[in-house]
Amino acid sequence: MDIIQEPGKPDFVLLDNLTLEAFMENLKIRFQKGRIYTYIGEVVVSVNPYKAMNIFTPEYIKDYKGREFWEKPPHIYALADAAYKSMKRYMKDTCIVISGESGAGKTEASKIIMNYIASITNVSARAEIERVTGILLKSNVILESFGNAKTNRNDNSSRFGKYMDINFDFKGDPIGGHINNYLLEKSRVVHQQSGERNFHSFYQLLLGATEQTLTSLHLKRDVDAYNFTRQDQSNNSRSIDDKRTFREMTGAFKAVGFTHDEQKALFQLLAVILHLGNIEFVLNGDVVGVKNKQVLSQIAELLGTSADAIEQALLTRVVAARGEVISKLHTHEDTCFARDAFAKAIYERAFSWIVQRINTIIEVKLDITRYGKSTLIGVLDIYGFEIFDNNSFEQFCINYCNEKLQQLFIELVLKQEQEEYLREGIDWQNIDYFNNCIICELVEQPHKGIISILDEACLNVGTVTDVMFLEAMDKKLKGHGHYQSRRLSPTDKDLSHNQDFRIIHYAGKVRYSVVGFMEKNKDQLFQDFKRVLYKSSNKVISDMWPEGAQSVKEVTKRPLTAGTLFKNSMIQLVGKLSSKEPYYVRCIKPNEMKSPIQFNDDRCEHQVAYLGLLENVRVRRAGFANRQPYSRFLQRYKMLSSYTWPNHQCKGDKEAVQALIKDISSRPGILVNGKPGFEHDVAYGNTKIFIRTPNTLVTLEEQRVDLIQYIIVLLQKMWRGANARRRYKRTVATYKIMNRYRVYKMRCYLLEMSKRFHNVRKMRDLGKSVVWAQPPKVLTQLAEHMKLMHARWRAGHIVKSIPHDQWPLIQLKCAAYDALHGKRSNWLRQGKWEGNYLASMSDNAAQASSFQSVSNNIKAKHSFNKVVFSAHVRKMNKNNKSEDRALLVTDKLIFKLDPKKGYKPMTSGVLLRKVTGLSVSSSSNQLLVIHLDGHDDLVTCIHKTNPPNQDRVPEAIGCIMRVIKLEQNRDILVNVGKSIQVKLGGKTKTISFDETNGATSNFRKVSNTSIMLTTSTT
Ligand SMILES: Nc1ncnc2c1ncn2[C@@H]1O[C@H](COP(=O)(O)OP(=O)(O)OP(=O)(O)O)[C@@H](O)[C@H]1O
Ligand SMILES: [Mg+2]
Repeated sequence: MDIIQEPGKPDFVLLDNLTLEAFMENLKIRFQKGRIYTYIGEVVVSVNPYKAMNIFTPEYIKDYKGREFWEKPPHIYALADAAYKSMKRYMKDTCIVISGESGAGKTEASKIIMNYIASITNVSARAEIERVTGILLKSNVILESFGNAKTNRNDNSSRFGKYMDINFDFKGDPIGGHINNYLLEKSRVVHQQSGERNFHSFYQLLLGATEQTLTSLHLKRDVDAYNFTRQDQSNNSRSIDDKRTFREMTGAFKAVGFTHDEQKALFQLLAVILHLGNIEFVLNGDVVGVKNKQVLSQIAELLGTSADAIEQALLTRVVAARGEVISKLHTHEDTCFARDAFAKAIYERAFSWIVQRINTIIEVKLDITRYGKSTLIGVLDIYGFEIFDNNSFEQFCINYCNEKLQQLFIELVLKQEQEEYLREGIDWQNIDYFNNCIICELVEQPHKGIISILDEACLNVGTVTDVMFLEAMDKKLKGHGHYQSRRLSPTDKDLSHNQDFRIIHYAGKVRYSVVGFMEKNKDQLFQDFKRVLYKSSNKVISDMWPEGAQSVKEVTKRPLTAGTLFKNSMIQLVGKLSSKEPYYVRCIKPNEMKSPIQFNDDRCEHQVAYLGLLENVRVRRAGFANRQPYSRFLQRYKMLSSYTWPNHQCKGDKEAVQALIKDISSRPGILVNGKPGFEHDVAYGNTKIFIRTPNTLVTLEEQRVDLIQYIIVLLQKMWRGANARRRYKRTVATYKIMNRYRVYKMRCYLLEMSKRFHNVRKMRDLGKSVVWAQPPKVLTQLAEHMKLMHARWRAGHIVKSIPHDQWPLIQLKCAAYDALHGKRSNWLRQGKWEGNYLASMSDNAAQASSFQSVSNNIKAKHSFNKVVFSAHVRKMNKNNKSEDRALLVTDKLIFKLDPKKGYKPMTSGVLLRKVTGLSVSSSSNQLLVIHLDGHDDLVTCIHKTNPPNQDRVPEAIGCIMRVIKLEQNRDILVNVGKSIQVKLGGKTKTISFDETNGATSNFRKVSNTSIMLTTSTT
């Protein structure tokens, strides 16, 4: 609970100075701030808000479920949860006692509690549990219709006491229930105070039932037509919607499981009562008769009996005297009394019957012993202490009931404290409190108590009056500290002679008038009525009155008086409650106007006084104001010390709490009640820490609030850190997986390739035919390398098998390959490459020797080492003229020779370093262009080969490239194209050609810039 943020003190125990003023101030502040609940330890003080509050939503239910009292702001849910938890955890029966005066909100509180229990147990929505909680909730509607009425204090005042047990199985699921009802205010049936109404059921029937139903009951839709429901002008009951509540009531009857006949019988009884109220009597001489016989026959019809029987019962009384049965006529007064007694008795019996009927429906049907122990939660919604101007027998009973409950409260609270201290090994301190046992005894003691004296007076034969009863009390109770009368204190003018007596209740002094005490205590209904009802042809009605079966002559014991019955039921109730662990809701009514804003100080102070709330706080504070299990205490305050934050290293929680308290106590500035530190203010029990004064708790809370902000930041930091670490780890893991996968893929690839190449040495083609698998992307480059390596390896192998003298040729072919492969249609000629064809006898038989001698001359002159290539060519000059020439390529210079003049050199030769590139056709013609730097290009076409048409261009290319590489370590470009650009006479010209190849070739000018190479076979 956030002690610091709550308005006022959320627990009265935390008040600094416990005075009535401080108590009232706190109650008022909280009420004005909309805090209707405040604790006294585990007691909930509830102030009626008189307005709808949004604190009963499912979210609130969820919030309070399973939480402890001090964890959340005060709420009745916390109490309901504590009762439920204790029952479930420890298999203990618990009860919730709700008290307070009329209109203080008891019934509403009981419904809120029931709803809470139904909600938290219905989570699994199992059919049986839903059925049980449904009936428990719906039965309220029926009981409110029949047992509640509009009074001057409360539009929906419960005119009976109710105690409801809810049974749970070992799992904590509700499996049934039982309702006890106490002292219905039946006098209301025949008489209501000005401004009040009869029980709701009458109005609901008259205003809500269908015309058909009303006709069958001989009723009119007019509440003023009946004496019992006729309303005086001051009664403004427009706020009550009887039509709607009638629908709800009939709906509830159906839902709970009342049969159609049962419901009909109940309506018939309501109608009978209304009709009875209209019966009038007339005096014919000495004889009394019924004036309106028609009403009588309607009553008879509705009761399933004869009009005569009813009339007789109203007018006469059958008694057995000395074995003879005689009929005695009533006086006029007697008949009126009998009629009213009849009406009251019918209503009271019908009400009790409804309660019994609900009980048979909700009683536990399962064989619980089969499933383990069953436990209970009891909810008591009973009338609060009443002080009116005129207090009669009913107030006497009600106030006695409150005395009993107060006594139980004190005993149980003290008993609980005592037991807890014993259990925890803490020294018990005596608490000074007022024990109202003496007042209970004043009322209930055998022989000497007021009820006994009253019974005695009623039992006396002869005419004993209320005054005589008062005299008897004065005699027997003389000297009792809590009883007063005019006779015993003649100066007390407040008490009337022969009429009043006063009881000093724990909650205040109440003056009672003895008038009517005896009659109400006797609570007589003549036997004749019971017999009539028992004989009813309506089974439901007949079953309600089993005692009517007795014969007139049968000598029966006198029935117990109302006072004794009530006393017994109270003793029984107290017995039931004291066997359970109690929880208390103390309701306070803030004003008489039903206003949500008014807080009437006097009224509230009075209620606080008679509910004994101040006393309650004193009892609670006399020992220890607060106690918490060590684990809970640690959970809440462990951040206050480094010994316990974030987790302690002590032997146990107790030692950790001790270390924590010691640590905080040693800090400067910690003062509790003027003394330094906390240690003098706490005691260590076996499982709980006990804190004597609220100051300690407040100081702890303050320190906690100071630290919480840092802890929140710390938690955020940790959380963010943890999140980031998690993300990082995930990323790292992802990369790891990716890497592993890549490695796996690479390994697969490499393994596959190594498998495929396993026998490569033995393959005839040395693995050329092996298909390379698709490499993973990362290995693409490697695969290319490997392919190259393999190719080189393979080439190496192949080359090794070639004789050494053929290597120059291979190198030439390689050079040609590099330049032409894939570009020229024919890039390699198989067979021997001779190079110096002009010196070859087979190729140039006629002129080989003359060429040889010219070649030798040139060699001598230009001192080159060897001839690289020679051939006959058709050459074109800058004037587009074609001439036959010979081409001689040496390792230093290139020469043009004139074959017609015995291979005379045409020029002094072009140095190899002038060669910038070569151009050839992409088809297989023999065009060979040598591009020269600073000279016209040498545009030729090789011809006159032997055999004819032999393709020597690749060889020429290979030779020229190779020699330039060897001599100058230079690579030259070889251009292969469908048309070739050349430079002649400073102009660029394009040579194009057709696809044919032939022995003779010629260049033909097409235009200034375009030349056609034609070949023909002739
Ligand atoms: N928690 C609440 N929220 C809103 N209104 C409430 C609450 N409690 C009580 N009331 C209002 O006060 C009225 C009286 O409450 P309730 O009938 O519970 O009083 P009571 O103590 O049972 O009185 P009685 O002794 O006459 O039966 C309700 O009808 C309702 O209007
Ligand atoms: Mg009530």
